[in-house]
Amino acid sequence: MTGQLAWVTGASTGIGRALALGLAARGWRVAASARPSAALDALAPEGTDIAAYPLDVRDAAANAATVAAIEATGPIALAILNAGTYRPSWAAGFDVATMRDMVETNLMGTVNGLIPVMERMMARRSGHIVLVASVAGWRGLPGGGAYGATKAALINLAESLKPDLERHGIALTVVAPGFVRTPLTAGNDFPMPFLIEADEAARIILDRLPGRPFSLALPWRMALAMGLLRLLPAPLLFGLTRRMLR
Ligand SMILES: NC(=O)c1ccc[n+]([C@@H]2O[C@H](COP(=O)([O-])OP(=O)(O)OC[C@H]3O[C@@H](n4cnc5c(N)ncnc54)[C@H](OP(=O)(O)O)[C@@H]3O)[C@@H](O)[C@H]2O)c1
Repeated sequence: MTGQLAWVTGASTGIGRALALGLAARGWRVAASARPSAALDALAPEGTDIAAYPLDVRDAAANAATVAAIEATGPIALAILNAGTYRPSWAAGFDVATMRDMVETNLMGTVNGLIPVMERMMARRSGHIVLVASVAGWRGLPGGGAYGATKAALINLAESLKPDLERHGIALTVVAPGFVRTPLTAGNDFPMPFLIEADEAARIILDRLPGRPFSLALPWRMALAMGLLRLLPAPLLFGLTRRMLR
């Protein structure tokens, strides 16, 4: 992959940062996006070949302009649309602002990057697009409704696009992490089973991406646990998830 160009959004911290550094270490040229910050600026010198492209993913026009600016340096071979945000959302106090924030960042923020990348990749009939969803998109869990709904939407969108993009020569992967220690999970005050570090998450993802799987869930223990939950009929699911109520 030496010298090929990858675009990673949400690259200032957590999984995205680890992916950007991991890709650079594996010989990729990396275009790293997040909102302007010292963390994003600090990323570039750490990698061998990382360039920062500050971007608010909620701005559709800015996404198109960023993709154009990156592609002025070469075609994007791999786009990892990873930017995301999380806040808990319980029934009491559930508000429009929280839901809108999740939708605008996690769902529309991903779509805003997906469209210009997809158009360019279709035109040249090559490329690999990765959407970072979550195992929280597999089943609805108490307190995670707003976040989980955006991730479920991404998974459904990806399932719809996968065969369609295939005939245009483009691979599509949906990454579904379990719990990863990052700023996003730092405020969680509940047990996080099978928690892994961001570097470990990035290593697993980057090891498996060359196989171009459709679904890439990690770590395997969490994927198995949530995969079993996914198979349960609703009454049995609620029997388990009622125990998560606080
Ligand atoms: N950590 C987990 O356990 C876990 C589990 C499942 C899925 N995920 C998913 O993995 C992805 C990365 O999460 P993380 O855990 O690494 O979280 P994180 O450390 O908080 O990183 C989130 C990244 O998204 C960026 N971002 C947020 N809003 C943005 C916006 N409007 N425009 C541009 N960039 C924005 C952040 O940068 P700035 O704020 O600097 O802009 C940051 O770089 C997310 O999609 C998350 O939902 C994480």
